[in-house]
Amino acid sequence: MAWALFALAWSALGGLGATESAAQNTAVGISDDIHLGVASCAGSTCHGSIEPWKKSNVLQNEYITWQREDKHAKAYDVLLNDRSKRIARNLGLPDAHTAQVCLDCHADNVPMDKRGTTFQIGDGVGCEACHGGSVRWIGVHLAGKDHATNVAAGMYPTADPEARATLCLSCHFGDKKRFVTHRIMGAGHPRMSFELDTFTALQPAHFTIDEDYTRRKAVYNGVKTWAIGQAMAIGRTIDLMTDPARGRDGIFPELVFFDCHACHHPMSNLRWQPRRGTGLKPGIVRLNDSNLVMLRVIARHLDEDVGDTLFQETLALHAASLEGIEATVKAAKALRKTVGKTIGMFKSYSFGPADIQALLSGVVAEGLSGEYADYAAAEQATMALASIVDAMKNGGMIDKDQLAPMIAALDSCYKAVEKDEAYKPTVFAKALRQFKDAIPKL
Ligand code: HEC
Ligand code: HEC
Ligand code: HEC
Ligand code: HEC
Repeated sequence: MAWALFALAWSALGGLGATESAAQNTAVGISDDIHLGVASCAGSTCHGSIEPWKKSNVLQNEYITWQREDKHAKAYDVLLNDRSKRIARNLGLPDAHTAQVCLDCHADNVPMDKRGTTFQIGDGVGCEACHGGSVRWIGVHLAGKDHATNVAAGMYPTADPEARATLCLSCHFGDKKRFVTHRIMGAGHPRMSFELDTFTALQPAHFTIDEDYTRRKAVYNGVKTWAIGQAMAIGRTIDLMTDPARGRDGIFPELVFFDCHACHHPMSNLRWQPRRGTGLKPGIVRLNDSNLVMLRVIARHLDEDVGDTLFQETLALHAASLEGIEATVKAAKALRKTVGKTIGMFKSYSFGPADIQALLSGVVAEGLSGEYADYAAAEQATMALASIVDAMKNGGMIDKDQLAPMIAALDSCYKAVEKDEAYKPTVFAKALRQFKDAIPKL
Protein backbone atom coordinates (compact mmCIF):
# COMPACT_ATOMS: atom_id res chain seq x y z
CA MET A 1 0.00 0.00 0.00
CA ALA A 2 1.37 3.34 -0.96
CA TRP A 3 2.05 5.12 2.29
CA ALA A 4 1.88 8.46 0.59
CA LEU A 5 0.41 9.45 3.93
CA PHE A 6 3.93 10.12 5.00
CA ALA A 7 3.90 13.17 2.84
CA LEU A 8 0.59 14.27 4.22
CA ALA A 9 1.92 15.86 7.37
CA TRP A 10 3.91 18.24 5.24
CA SER A 11 1.92 18.79 2.11
CA ALA A 12 -1.70 18.65 3.13
CA LEU A 13 -1.50 20.99 6.09
CA GLY A 14 -3.28 23.76 4.32
CA GLY A 15 -6.12 21.56 3.06
CA LEU A 16 -9.60 21.90 4.45
CA GLY A 17 -11.01 25.04 5.97
CA ALA A 18 -12.80 25.74 9.17
CA THR A 19 -16.27 27.22 9.09
CA GLU A 20 -19.51 25.32 8.89
CA SER A 21 -23.10 25.71 7.93
CA ALA A 22 -26.18 23.57 7.40
CA ALA A 23 -25.80 20.18 5.78
CA GLN A 24 -27.17 19.60 2.31
CA ASN A 25 -27.72 16.06 1.34
CA THR A 26 -29.27 14.90 -1.86
CA ALA A 27 -27.59 11.67 -2.81
CA VAL A 28 -28.06 11.54 -6.58
CA GLY A 29 -27.18 8.50 -8.67
CA ILE A 30 -23.77 9.00 -10.25
CA SER A 31 -24.84 6.84 -13.21
CA ASP A 32 -28.34 8.16 -13.82
CA ASP A 33 -27.32 10.53 -16.60
CA ILE A 34 -25.12 10.28 -19.70
CA HIS A 35 -21.38 10.71 -18.99
CA LEU A 36 -19.82 12.99 -21.59
CA GLY A 37 -16.24 12.01 -20.73
CA VAL A 38 -13.20 13.74 -19.25
CA ALA A 39 -12.46 15.46 -22.57
CA SER A 40 -15.62 17.52 -22.17
CA CYS A 41 -14.23 19.05 -18.92
CA ALA A 42 -10.60 19.42 -20.01
CA GLY A 43 -10.70 22.49 -22.29
CA SER A 44 -8.04 25.09 -21.44
CA THR A 45 -10.71 27.68 -20.67
CA CYS A 46 -12.71 25.14 -18.64
CA HIS A 47 -10.91 22.87 -16.12
CA GLY A 48 -7.78 22.25 -18.18
CA SER A 49 -5.89 25.45 -17.47
CA ILE A 50 -2.19 24.92 -16.68
CA GLU A 51 -2.21 27.54 -13.93
CA PRO A 52 -5.01 28.27 -11.47
CA TRP A 53 -7.18 31.21 -12.56
CA LYS A 54 -7.00 34.13 -10.17
CA LYS A 55 -10.32 35.66 -11.15
CA SER A 56 -12.36 32.47 -11.12
CA ASN A 57 -14.33 30.92 -8.27
CA VAL A 58 -12.75 27.55 -8.93
CA LEU A 59 -9.11 26.74 -9.75
CA GLN A 60 -9.81 25.74 -13.39
CA ASN A 61 -6.69 23.54 -13.43
CA GLU A 62 -8.55 20.56 -11.91
CA TYR A 63 -7.95 18.45 -15.00
CA ILE A 64 -4.18 19.04 -14.86
CA THR A 65 -4.06 18.17 -11.16
CA TRP A 66 -6.10 15.04 -11.79
CA GLN A 67 -4.08 13.97 -14.82
CA ARG A 68 -0.66 14.62 -13.27
CA GLU A 69 -1.05 13.86 -9.59
CA ASP A 70 -4.28 11.97 -8.95
CA LYS A 71 -4.09 8.17 -8.94
CA HIS A 72 -7.68 8.03 -10.18
CA ALA A 73 -6.42 9.11 -13.61
CA LYS A 74 -4.24 5.97 -13.69
CA ALA A 75 -6.81 3.63 -12.19
CA TYR A 76 -7.58 2.02 -15.56
CA ASP A 77 -3.90 1.84 -16.56
CA VAL A 78 -3.04 -0.27 -13.51
CA LEU A 79 -5.37 -2.94 -14.87
CA LEU A 80 -2.82 -3.43 -17.64
CA ASN A 81 0.18 -3.91 -15.33
CA ASP A 82 1.81 -7.16 -14.25
CA ARG A 83 0.14 -7.25 -10.87
CA SER A 84 -3.30 -6.99 -12.46
CA LYS A 85 -2.38 -9.62 -15.04
CA ARG A 86 -1.47 -11.94 -12.20
CA ILE A 87 -4.69 -11.19 -10.31
CA ALA A 88 -6.73 -11.85 -13.46
CA ARG A 89 -4.87 -15.09 -14.14
CA ASN A 90 -5.35 -16.28 -10.56
CA LEU A 91 -9.08 -15.52 -10.73
CA GLY A 92 -9.48 -17.14 -14.14
CA LEU A 93 -10.48 -13.87 -15.82
CA PRO A 94 -9.50 -13.38 -19.50
CA ASP A 95 -8.16 -9.86 -18.77
CA ALA A 96 -8.32 -7.40 -15.89
CA HIS A 97 -9.00 -4.41 -18.17
CA THR A 98 -12.09 -6.03 -19.68
CA ALA A 99 -13.46 -7.63 -16.52
CA GLN A 100 -16.49 -5.88 -15.08
CA VAL A 101 -15.40 -6.72 -11.53
CA CYS A 102 -12.25 -4.65 -12.01
CA LEU A 103 -13.69 -1.90 -14.21
CA ASP A 104 -16.48 -1.14 -11.75
CA CYS A 105 -13.93 0.45 -9.41
CA HIS A 106 -10.99 1.23 -11.69
CA ALA A 107 -12.96 3.19 -14.28
CA ASP A 108 -16.19 5.12 -14.79
CA ASN A 109 -17.90 1.91 -15.84
CA VAL A 110 -21.37 3.20 -16.72
CA PRO A 111 -23.55 1.17 -19.15
CA MET A 112 -22.99 1.73 -22.89
CA ASP A 113 -26.18 3.77 -23.26
CA LYS A 114 -24.85 6.21 -20.65
CA ARG A 115 -21.60 6.94 -22.55
CA GLY A 116 -21.38 10.13 -24.62
CA THR A 117 -19.30 10.53 -27.79
CA THR A 118 -16.11 11.71 -26.05
CA PHE A 119 -16.37 9.15 -23.24
CA GLN A 120 -13.34 6.86 -22.92
CA ILE A 121 -13.18 3.96 -20.48
CA GLY A 122 -9.37 4.35 -20.45
CA ASP A 123 -9.74 7.66 -18.61
CA GLY A 124 -10.10 5.64 -15.43
CA VAL A 125 -11.92 7.24 -12.51
CA GLY A 126 -12.72 10.46 -14.36
CA CYS A 127 -14.53 13.62 -13.33
CA GLU A 128 -18.02 12.20 -13.79
CA ALA A 129 -17.27 9.10 -11.71
CA CYS A 130 -17.39 11.49 -8.76
CA HIS A 131 -19.31 14.51 -10.00
CA GLY A 132 -22.03 12.52 -11.78
CA GLY A 133 -23.00 12.23 -15.45
CA SER A 134 -22.94 15.78 -16.75
CA VAL A 135 -25.38 15.78 -19.65
CA ARG A 136 -28.06 17.65 -17.68
CA TRP A 137 -25.88 19.86 -15.50
CA ILE A 138 -23.20 20.88 -18.00
CA GLY A 139 -25.45 23.63 -19.38
CA VAL A 140 -26.47 25.24 -16.10
CA HIS A 141 -22.96 24.99 -14.74
CA LEU A 142 -21.52 26.70 -17.85
CA ALA A 143 -24.12 29.40 -17.37
CA GLY A 144 -22.57 30.02 -13.95
CA LYS A 145 -25.60 29.07 -11.86
CA ASP A 146 -25.12 28.35 -8.18
CA HIS A 147 -24.06 25.00 -6.75
CA ALA A 148 -27.59 24.07 -5.62
CA THR A 149 -28.84 24.52 -9.20
CA ASN A 150 -26.06 22.26 -10.48
CA VAL A 151 -26.92 19.65 -7.87
CA ALA A 152 -30.61 19.87 -8.75
CA ALA A 153 -29.60 19.18 -12.37
CA GLY A 154 -27.82 15.96 -11.36
CA MET A 155 -24.36 17.03 -10.20
CA TYR A 156 -23.32 14.81 -7.29
CA PRO A 157 -23.11 16.75 -3.98
CA THR A 158 -19.42 15.98 -3.27
CA ALA A 159 -19.16 18.93 -0.87
CA ASP A 160 -21.45 17.20 1.63
CA PRO A 161 -19.40 14.83 3.84
CA GLU A 162 -22.13 12.20 4.11
CA ALA A 163 -22.66 12.12 0.35
CA ARG A 164 -18.91 12.21 -0.21
CA ALA A 165 -18.37 9.28 2.15
CA THR A 166 -21.10 7.32 0.35
CA LEU A 167 -19.27 7.98 -2.92
CA CYS A 168 -15.69 7.23 -1.88
CA LEU A 169 -16.62 4.16 0.17
CA SER A 170 -18.39 2.63 -2.83
CA CYS A 171 -14.94 1.96 -4.31
CA HIS A 172 -12.65 2.25 -1.29
CA PHE A 173 -14.57 -0.34 0.66
CA GLY A 174 -17.41 -1.53 -1.55
CA ASP A 175 -21.16 -1.43 -1.96
CA LYS A 176 -23.90 -3.80 -3.06
CA LYS A 177 -22.55 -3.81 -6.59
CA ARG A 178 -18.77 -3.85 -6.11
CA PHE A 179 -16.54 -5.39 -3.52
CA VAL A 180 -13.01 -6.72 -3.13
CA THR A 181 -13.53 -10.11 -1.54
CA HIS A 182 -10.82 -12.06 0.28
CA ARG A 183 -10.68 -14.26 -2.81
CA ILE A 184 -9.70 -11.22 -4.90
CA MET A 185 -7.16 -10.24 -2.25
CA GLY A 186 -5.90 -13.82 -2.21
CA ALA A 187 -5.32 -13.44 -5.95
CA GLY A 188 -3.07 -10.48 -5.17
CA HIS A 189 -5.22 -7.35 -4.79
CA PRO A 190 -3.74 -4.90 -2.25
CA ARG A 191 -5.33 -4.38 1.12
CA MET A 192 -7.62 -1.36 1.23
CA SER A 193 -7.70 1.36 3.83
CA PHE A 194 -9.64 4.58 3.88
CA GLU A 195 -10.29 7.64 5.99
CA LEU A 196 -12.49 10.31 4.45
CA ASP A 197 -10.71 13.49 5.52
CA THR A 198 -7.17 12.19 4.98
CA PHE A 199 -7.98 10.69 1.59
CA THR A 200 -9.73 13.88 0.48
CA ALA A 201 -6.43 15.72 1.08
CA LEU A 202 -4.32 12.90 -0.34
CA GLN A 203 -6.24 12.65 -3.61
CA PRO A 204 -4.82 15.49 -3.92
CA ALA A 205 -7.65 17.97 -3.47
CA HIS A 206 -8.29 20.01 -6.63
CA PHE A 207 -10.21 22.68 -4.72
CA THR A 208 -9.28 25.29 -2.15
CA ILE A 209 -11.58 26.38 0.61
CA ASP A 210 -11.36 30.13 0.32
CA GLU A 211 -13.76 32.99 0.76
CA ASP A 212 -15.80 32.36 -2.36
CA TYR A 213 -15.97 28.60 -1.67
CA THR A 214 -17.44 29.39 1.73
CA ARG A 215 -20.01 31.62 0.05
CA ARG A 216 -20.95 29.01 -2.51
CA LYS A 217 -20.93 25.82 -0.44
CA ALA A 218 -21.45 24.52 3.05
CA VAL A 219 -18.01 24.04 4.58
CA TYR A 220 -17.16 21.44 7.23
CA ASN A 221 -13.99 21.38 9.24
CA GLY A 222 -11.80 18.32 8.91
CA VAL A 223 -12.79 16.94 12.31
CA LYS A 224 -16.46 16.83 11.37
CA THR A 225 -15.60 15.19 8.04
CA TRP A 226 -13.47 12.65 9.92
CA ALA A 227 -16.27 11.93 12.40
CA ILE A 228 -18.94 11.48 9.74
CA GLY A 229 -16.52 9.40 7.66
CA GLN A 230 -15.95 6.99 10.58
CA ALA A 231 -19.67 6.46 11.16
CA MET A 232 -20.34 6.02 7.44
CA ALA A 233 -17.51 3.48 7.13
CA ILE A 234 -18.91 1.34 9.94
CA GLY A 235 -22.40 1.67 8.54
CA ARG A 236 -21.19 0.39 5.19
CA THR A 237 -19.18 -2.43 6.78
CA ILE A 238 -22.15 -3.64 8.78
CA ASP A 239 -24.54 -3.38 5.84
CA LEU A 240 -22.26 -5.56 3.72
CA MET A 241 -21.38 -7.94 6.53
CA THR A 242 -25.03 -8.62 7.30
CA ASP A 243 -25.92 -9.01 3.61
CA PRO A 244 -26.27 -12.78 3.06
CA ALA A 245 -24.80 -12.41 -0.44
CA ARG A 246 -21.63 -10.78 0.92
CA GLY A 247 -21.17 -11.97 4.46
CA ARG A 248 -20.30 -15.62 3.82
CA ASP A 249 -17.97 -17.78 1.81
CA GLY A 250 -18.68 -21.48 2.24
CA ILE A 251 -18.15 -22.61 5.80
CA PHE A 252 -16.29 -19.36 6.54
CA PRO A 253 -17.53 -15.85 6.90
CA GLU A 254 -16.16 -13.35 4.33
CA LEU A 255 -12.67 -12.74 5.72
CA VAL A 256 -12.42 -9.15 4.52
CA PHE A 257 -14.49 -8.02 7.51
CA PHE A 258 -11.84 -9.36 9.89
CA ASP A 259 -8.55 -7.88 10.97
CA CYS A 260 -6.17 -9.00 8.20
CA HIS A 261 -3.21 -9.19 10.53
CA ALA A 262 -5.04 -11.44 12.97
CA CYS A 263 -4.14 -14.13 10.42
CA HIS A 264 -1.41 -12.54 8.36
CA HIS A 265 1.65 -12.09 10.50
CA PRO A 266 4.65 -14.31 11.12
CA MET A 267 4.33 -16.69 14.06
CA SER A 268 7.71 -15.55 15.36
CA ASN A 269 6.28 -12.06 15.87
CA LEU A 270 4.53 -12.75 19.18
CA ARG A 271 2.56 -9.65 19.97
CA TRP A 272 -0.89 -10.60 21.21
CA GLN A 273 -2.06 -8.59 24.17
CA PRO A 274 -5.48 -8.36 25.80
CA ARG A 275 -7.74 -5.58 24.56
CA ARG A 276 -10.38 -4.06 26.74
CA GLY A 277 -12.39 -3.17 23.64
CA THR A 278 -12.77 -6.74 22.34
CA GLY A 279 -12.87 -8.83 25.48
CA LEU A 280 -11.48 -11.67 23.32
CA LYS A 281 -8.95 -14.29 24.35
CA PRO A 282 -5.78 -15.12 22.33
CA GLY A 283 -5.91 -17.14 19.13
CA ILE A 284 -9.19 -15.72 17.86
CA VAL A 285 -9.84 -14.19 14.45
CA ARG A 286 -11.09 -10.71 15.31
CA LEU A 287 -13.51 -8.56 13.34
CA ASN A 288 -11.79 -5.38 12.17
CA ASP A 289 -13.15 -2.83 14.64
CA SER A 290 -10.71 0.01 13.88
CA ASN A 291 -13.42 2.45 12.77
CA LEU A 292 -15.48 1.55 15.83
CA VAL A 293 -12.62 2.46 18.14
CA MET A 294 -12.40 5.90 16.50
CA LEU A 295 -16.16 6.34 16.49
CA ARG A 296 -16.52 5.74 20.18
CA VAL A 297 -13.83 8.31 20.99
CA ILE A 298 -15.88 10.89 19.09
CA ALA A 299 -19.29 9.76 20.33
CA ARG A 300 -18.18 9.59 23.96
CA HIS A 301 -16.98 13.17 23.80
CA LEU A 302 -20.33 14.40 22.49
CA ASP A 303 -22.57 12.16 24.58
CA GLU A 304 -21.22 9.77 27.17
CA ASP A 305 -24.26 7.50 27.01
CA VAL A 306 -23.99 7.01 23.27
CA GLY A 307 -20.25 6.37 23.64
CA ASP A 308 -20.96 3.80 26.31
CA THR A 309 -23.66 2.11 24.25
CA LEU A 310 -21.22 1.87 21.33
CA PHE A 311 -18.61 0.32 23.59
CA GLN A 312 -21.05 -2.27 24.99
CA GLU A 313 -22.47 -3.08 21.57
CA THR A 314 -18.97 -3.52 20.13
CA LEU A 315 -18.13 -5.96 22.94
CA ALA A 316 -21.40 -7.76 22.22
CA LEU A 317 -20.49 -8.00 18.52
CA HIS A 318 -17.07 -9.49 19.30
CA ALA A 319 -18.69 -11.97 21.69
CA ALA A 320 -21.36 -12.86 19.13
CA SER A 321 -18.66 -13.59 16.53
CA LEU A 322 -17.66 -16.59 18.65
CA GLU A 323 -21.23 -17.83 18.77
CA GLY A 324 -22.22 -17.95 15.13
CA ILE A 325 -23.46 -16.09 12.15
CA GLU A 326 -27.00 -15.48 13.38
CA ALA A 327 -25.85 -14.00 16.66
CA THR A 328 -23.29 -11.87 14.81
CA VAL A 329 -25.86 -10.48 12.38
CA LYS A 330 -28.18 -9.67 15.27
CA ALA A 331 -25.48 -7.88 17.24
CA ALA A 332 -24.28 -6.04 14.13
CA LYS A 333 -27.78 -4.79 13.41
CA ALA A 334 -28.20 -3.45 16.93
CA LEU A 335 -24.89 -1.65 16.60
CA ARG A 336 -25.92 -0.31 13.19
CA LYS A 337 -28.80 1.60 14.81
CA THR A 338 -26.50 3.37 17.25
CA VAL A 339 -24.03 4.15 14.47
CA GLY A 340 -26.85 5.67 12.42
CA LYS A 341 -27.73 7.88 15.37
CA THR A 342 -24.17 9.21 15.59
CA ILE A 343 -24.25 10.47 11.99
CA GLY A 344 -27.13 12.77 12.87
CA MET A 345 -25.32 13.84 16.05
CA PHE A 346 -22.15 14.75 14.17
CA LYS A 347 -23.95 16.57 11.38
CA SER A 348 -25.71 18.92 13.75
CA TYR A 349 -22.72 19.46 16.05
CA SER A 350 -20.32 22.32 15.66
CA PHE A 351 -16.82 21.08 16.51
CA GLY A 352 -14.96 23.94 18.18
CA PRO A 353 -11.38 24.23 19.46
CA ALA A 354 -12.18 22.64 22.86
CA ASP A 355 -13.77 19.64 21.13
CA ILE A 356 -10.89 19.28 18.74
CA GLN A 357 -8.35 19.24 21.55
CA ALA A 358 -10.41 16.75 23.57
CA LEU A 359 -10.66 14.43 20.57
CA LEU A 360 -6.93 14.58 20.05
CA SER A 361 -6.36 13.56 23.67
CA GLY A 362 -9.08 10.93 23.34
CA VAL A 363 -7.46 9.27 20.31
CA VAL A 364 -4.10 9.21 22.11
CA ALA A 365 -5.58 7.92 25.38
CA GLU A 366 -7.37 5.07 23.62
CA GLY A 367 -4.01 3.95 22.23
CA LEU A 368 -2.16 4.25 25.51
CA SER A 369 -4.79 2.00 27.07
CA GLY A 370 -3.76 -0.71 24.57
CA GLU A 371 -6.52 -0.45 21.98
CA TYR A 372 -4.12 -0.10 19.05
CA ALA A 373 -2.61 -3.53 19.48
CA ASP A 374 -3.87 -4.30 15.99
CA TYR A 375 -2.41 -2.59 12.95
CA ALA A 376 -5.71 -1.41 11.46
CA ALA A 377 -6.54 0.61 14.56
CA ALA A 378 -3.08 2.21 14.65
CA GLU A 379 -3.46 3.12 11.00
CA GLN A 380 -6.86 4.74 11.62
CA ALA A 381 -5.51 6.55 14.68
CA THR A 382 -2.63 7.97 12.66
CA MET A 383 -4.95 9.28 9.98
CA ALA A 384 -7.18 10.71 12.70
CA LEU A 385 -4.32 12.55 14.38
CA ALA A 386 -3.18 13.97 11.03
CA SER A 387 -6.68 15.09 10.26
CA ILE A 388 -7.16 16.76 13.64
CA VAL A 389 -3.79 18.51 13.58
CA ASP A 390 -4.71 19.78 10.12
CA ALA A 391 -7.99 21.17 11.45
CA MET A 392 -6.19 22.86 14.36
CA LYS A 393 -3.80 24.50 11.97
CA ASN A 394 -6.48 25.60 9.53
CA GLY A 395 -8.65 26.90 12.34
CA GLY A 396 -5.78 29.10 13.50
CA MET A 397 -5.79 27.33 16.88
CA ILE A 398 -2.03 26.85 17.08
CA ASP A 399 1.09 28.72 16.08
CA LYS A 400 4.22 27.42 14.39
CA ASP A 401 6.01 26.59 17.64
CA GLN A 402 3.09 24.50 18.82
CA LEU A 403 2.74 22.80 15.46
CA ALA A 404 6.37 21.69 15.09
CA PRO A 405 6.48 19.11 17.92
CA MET A 406 3.12 17.71 16.81
CA ILE A 407 4.40 17.24 13.26
CA ALA A 408 7.52 15.54 14.64
CA ALA A 409 5.35 13.20 16.72
CA LEU A 410 3.09 12.52 13.72
CA ASP A 411 6.17 11.53 11.78
CA SER A 412 6.98 8.95 14.45
CA CYS A 413 3.42 7.63 14.14
CA TYR A 414 3.74 7.37 10.36
CA LYS A 415 7.01 5.52 10.69
CA ALA A 416 5.41 3.05 13.09
CA VAL A 417 2.60 2.22 10.65
CA GLU A 418 4.55 2.48 7.42
CA LYS A 419 4.80 -1.28 6.89
CA ASP A 420 1.80 -3.22 8.10
CA GLU A 421 3.62 -6.54 8.25
CA ALA A 422 6.35 -5.06 10.44
CA TYR A 423 3.97 -3.28 12.84
CA LYS A 424 4.96 -3.33 16.51
CA PRO A 425 2.41 -2.02 19.01
CA THR A 426 5.16 -0.99 21.44
CA VAL A 427 6.80 1.27 18.85
CA PHE A 428 3.46 2.89 18.09
CA ALA A 429 2.75 3.39 21.79
CA LYS A 430 6.06 5.22 22.09
CA ALA A 431 5.10 7.52 19.22
CA LEU A 432 1.78 8.17 20.95
CA ARG A 433 3.53 9.19 24.16
CA GLN A 434 5.62 11.60 22.11
CA PHE A 435 2.41 12.93 20.62
CA LYS A 436 0.80 13.30 24.05
CA ASP A 437 3.68 15.51 25.18
CA ALA A 438 3.32 17.60 22.02
CA ILE A 439 -0.36 18.44 22.52
CA PRO A 440 -0.38 22.15 23.32
CA LYS A 441 -2.26 23.52 26.32
CA LEU A 442 -4.80 25.84 24.77
C1 HEC B 1 -14.46 -2.29 -4.69
C2 HEC B 1 -13.59 -1.63 -5.62
C3 HEC B 1 -12.46 -2.36 -6.32
C4 HEC B 1 -12.53 -3.51 -7.07
C5 HEC B 1 -13.76 -4.40 -7.30
C6 HEC B 1 -11.21 -3.74 -7.58
N1 HEC B 1 -10.34 -2.77 -7.12
FE1 HEC B 1 -8.33 -2.69 -7.45
N2 HEC B 1 -8.20 -1.11 -6.14
C7 HEC B 1 -9.27 -0.45 -5.57
C8 HEC B 1 -8.77 0.62 -4.75
C9 HEC B 1 -9.63 1.58 -3.95
C10 HEC B 1 -7.38 0.57 -4.83
C11 HEC B 1 -6.39 1.47 -4.09
C12 HEC B 1 -6.14 0.93 -2.71
C13 HEC B 1 -5.33 1.88 -1.85
O1 HEC B 1 -4.21 2.22 -2.26
O2 HEC B 1 -5.81 2.28 -0.80
C14 HEC B 1 -7.04 -0.53 -5.72
C15 HEC B 1 -5.75 -0.90 -6.06
C16 HEC B 1 -5.43 -1.84 -7.03
C17 HEC B 1 -4.11 -2.13 -7.49
C18 HEC B 1 -2.82 -1.48 -7.00
C19 HEC B 1 -2.65 -0.20 -7.76
C20 HEC B 1 -1.38 0.53 -7.50
O3 HEC B 1 -1.34 1.76 -7.81
O4 HEC B 1 -0.43 -0.06 -7.00
C21 HEC B 1 -4.21 -3.09 -8.47
C22 HEC B 1 -3.10 -3.70 -9.29
C23 HEC B 1 -5.62 -3.40 -8.60
N3 HEC B 1 -6.32 -2.63 -7.70
C24 HEC B 1 -6.15 -4.32 -9.50
C25 HEC B 1 -7.47 -4.73 -9.52
C26 HEC B 1 -7.98 -5.79 -10.34
C27 HEC B 1 -7.17 -6.58 -11.34
C28 HEC B 1 -9.31 -5.93 -10.05
C29 HEC B 1 -10.30 -6.93 -10.60
C30 HEC B 1 -10.02 -8.30 -10.30
C31 HEC B 1 -9.63 -4.93 -9.03
N4 HEC B 1 -8.49 -4.22 -8.75
C32 HEC B 1 -10.87 -4.78 -8.45
C33 HEC B 1 -10.60 -0.76 -5.73
C34 HEC B 1 -11.08 -1.90 -6.36
C1 HEC C 1 -12.42 10.79 -6.75
C2 HEC C 1 -13.46 11.77 -6.89
C3 HEC C 1 -13.25 12.97 -7.76
C4 HEC C 1 -12.81 13.01 -9.06
C5 HEC C 1 -12.34 11.85 -9.91
C6 HEC C 1 -12.89 14.38 -9.48
N1 HEC C 1 -13.36 15.15 -8.45
FE1 HEC C 1 -13.66 17.18 -8.52
N2 HEC C 1 -14.12 17.15 -6.53
C7 HEC C 1 -14.17 16.04 -5.73
C8 HEC C 1 -14.38 16.45 -4.36
C9 HEC C 1 -14.49 15.53 -3.16
C10 HEC C 1 -14.48 17.87 -4.37
C11 HEC C 1 -14.63 18.80 -3.15
C12 HEC C 1 -16.01 18.97 -2.69
C13 HEC C 1 -16.78 19.95 -3.51
O1 HEC C 1 -16.44 21.15 -3.52
O2 HEC C 1 -17.75 19.53 -4.17
C14 HEC C 1 -14.35 18.27 -5.75
C15 HEC C 1 -14.44 19.58 -6.19
C16 HEC C 1 -14.38 19.97 -7.52
C17 HEC C 1 -14.64 21.30 -8.01
C18 HEC C 1 -15.18 22.45 -7.19
C19 HEC C 1 -14.16 23.38 -6.64
C20 HEC C 1 -14.80 24.55 -5.94
O3 HEC C 1 -14.03 25.46 -5.57
O4 HEC C 1 -16.01 24.60 -5.78
C21 HEC C 1 -14.43 21.29 -9.36
C22 HEC C 1 -14.58 22.46 -10.31
C23 HEC C 1 -14.03 19.95 -9.72
N3 HEC C 1 -14.01 19.16 -8.59
C24 HEC C 1 -13.72 19.54 -10.99
C25 HEC C 1 -13.29 18.27 -11.32
C26 HEC C 1 -12.81 17.89 -12.65
C27 HEC C 1 -12.78 18.79 -13.86
C28 HEC C 1 -12.46 16.58 -12.57
C29 HEC C 1 -11.86 15.71 -13.66
C30 HEC C 1 -10.67 16.19 -14.31
C31 HEC C 1 -12.73 16.13 -11.21
N4 HEC C 1 -13.21 17.19 -10.49
C32 HEC C 1 -12.51 14.84 -10.75
C33 HEC C 1 -14.03 14.73 -6.13
C34 HEC C 1 -13.59 14.33 -7.38
C1 HEC D 1 -15.12 4.66 -9.08
C2 HEC D 1 -14.33 4.22 -7.94
C3 HEC D 1 -13.68 5.24 -7.05
C4 HEC D 1 -14.29 6.29 -6.38
C5 HEC D 1 -15.74 6.73 -6.46
C6 HEC D 1 -13.26 6.88 -5.57
N1 HEC D 1 -12.07 6.23 -5.72
FE1 HEC D 1 -10.27 6.74 -4.90
N2 HEC D 1 -9.37 5.23 -5.91
C7 HEC D 1 -10.00 4.33 -6.74
C8 HEC D 1 -9.02 3.41 -7.27
C9 HEC D 1 -9.31 2.23 -8.19
C10 HEC D 1 -7.76 3.80 -6.77
C11 HEC D 1 -6.40 3.16 -7.03
C12 HEC D 1 -5.81 3.78 -8.25
C13 HEC D 1 -4.34 3.43 -8.47
O1 HEC D 1 -3.65 3.03 -7.55
O2 HEC D 1 -3.90 3.62 -9.61
C14 HEC D 1 -8.02 4.96 -5.93
C15 HEC D 1 -7.03 5.66 -5.24
C16 HEC D 1 -7.26 6.71 -4.38
C17 HEC D 1 -6.24 7.38 -3.61
C18 HEC D 1 -4.75 7.04 -3.62
C19 HEC D 1 -4.46 6.04 -2.52
C20 HEC D 1 -3.01 5.65 -2.42
O3 HEC D 1 -2.76 4.57 -1.87
O4 HEC D 1 -2.14 6.38 -2.87
C21 HEC D 1 -6.87 8.34 -2.85
C22 HEC D 1 -6.21 9.30 -1.89
C23 HEC D 1 -8.28 8.27 -3.15
N3 HEC D 1 -8.48 7.27 -4.09
C24 HEC D 1 -9.25 9.07 -2.58
C25 HEC D 1 -10.61 9.03 -2.92
C26 HEC D 1 -11.60 9.92 -2.37
C27 HEC D 1 -11.36 10.98 -1.33
C28 HEC D 1 -12.78 9.59 -2.98
C29 HEC D 1 -14.14 10.23 -2.77
C30 HEC D 1 -14.20 11.68 -2.96
C31 HEC D 1 -12.53 8.53 -3.90
N4 HEC D 1 -11.20 8.20 -3.84
C32 HEC D 1 -13.50 7.96 -4.72
C33 HEC D 1 -11.35 4.27 -7.01
C34 HEC D 1 -12.28 5.20 -6.61
C1 HEC E 1 -9.12 -16.00 9.05
C2 HEC E 1 -7.79 -15.70 8.64
C3 HEC E 1 -7.59 -14.65 7.55
C4 HEC E 1 -7.97 -13.35 7.58
C5 HEC E 1 -8.73 -12.58 8.64
C6 HEC E 1 -7.48 -12.76 6.36
N1 HEC E 1 -6.82 -13.71 5.63
FE1 HEC E 1 -5.85 -13.43 3.86
N2 HEC E 1 -5.47 -15.42 3.75
C7 HEC E 1 -5.82 -16.36 4.70
C8 HEC E 1 -5.53 -17.68 4.19
C9 HEC E 1 -5.77 -18.97 4.91
C10 HEC E 1 -4.96 -17.48 2.90
C11 HEC E 1 -4.46 -18.55 1.94
C12 HEC E 1 -3.01 -18.77 2.18
C13 HEC E 1 -2.40 -19.69 1.14
O1 HEC E 1 -3.02 -20.00 0.14
O2 HEC E 1 -1.23 -20.06 1.34
C14 HEC E 1 -4.93 -16.06 2.67
C15 HEC E 1 -4.39 -15.47 1.55
C16 HEC E 1 -4.25 -14.11 1.36
C17 HEC E 1 -3.45 -13.48 0.34
C18 HEC E 1 -2.62 -14.20 -0.70
C19 HEC E 1 -1.32 -14.64 -0.12
C20 HEC E 1 -0.49 -15.49 -1.08
O3 HEC E 1 0.33 -16.26 -0.60
O4 HEC E 1 -0.62 -15.35 -2.30
C21 HEC E 1 -3.57 -12.14 0.51
C22 HEC E 1 -2.92 -11.06 -0.32
C23 HEC E 1 -4.46 -11.92 1.63
N3 HEC E 1 -4.85 -13.13 2.14
C24 HEC E 1 -4.85 -10.69 2.11
C25 HEC E 1 -5.72 -10.49 3.18
C26 HEC E 1 -6.24 -9.20 3.57
C27 HEC E 1 -5.90 -7.89 2.89
C28 HEC E 1 -7.04 -9.42 4.66
C29 HEC E 1 -7.86 -8.41 5.44
C30 HEC E 1 -8.77 -7.57 4.69
C31 HEC E 1 -7.01 -10.84 4.94
N4 HEC E 1 -6.20 -11.44 4.00
C32 HEC E 1 -7.66 -11.44 6.00
C33 HEC E 1 -6.37 -16.10 5.93
C34 HEC E 1 -6.88 -14.88 6.33
